[in-house]
Amino acid sequence: MLSQTIQEALNKQVAMEAASSQAYLAMASWAEIQPGLDGVTNFFYQQSDEERIHMLKLIRYINERGGFAVVPALEQPNITFQSLQRVFEEFLKHEIAVSESINELVGLCLGERDFSTHNFLQWYVTEQLEEEALARTLNDKLELVGDDKGGIYLFDKDIMLFRNAANASGNMTT
Ligand code: FEO
Repeated sequence: MLSQTIQEALNKQVAMEAASSQAYLAMASWAEIQPGLDGVTNFFYQQSDEERIHMLKLIRYINERGGFAVVPALEQPNITFQSLQRVFEEFLKHEIAVSESINELVGLCLGERDFSTHNFLQWYVTEQLEEEALARTLNDKLELVGDDKGGIYLFDKDIMLFRNAANASGNMTT
């Protein structure tokens, strides 16, 4: 049985994963109406789906442990972006915030001696390492490219390769 404290903290994480899914869906929709960003569009549609899976895993876990997973209200995320660089900066900022939240949750579980939830969360710890590393790589590449159209063309063309490489080297699933 989950303690009230852990249940509330897990439900907060549910809301954060839902917000991530919404944020990346908005990035996908923005990219889709820009000329020539098919790769970035696919990347964020997929990223949005993954975040929904992260949310679902938490919901199933909370309920399995005798708690009640609360489906959160949806807030509108940022829907417009000044540039492709801004999109990826926001992506990295978001992933760093999620990592911090997961780390706090892990610390809380240790404090409460909830070793089952601590164990369950290890998947998220690994996932965040991979996602943050991928977001940093993509930001570094965009910094190199700057405003060069040829570079952006190649970045868009290769973005799914970067993602697949990250999936293959780590435990990013789905
Ligand atoms: Fe599930 Fe990337 O946060």
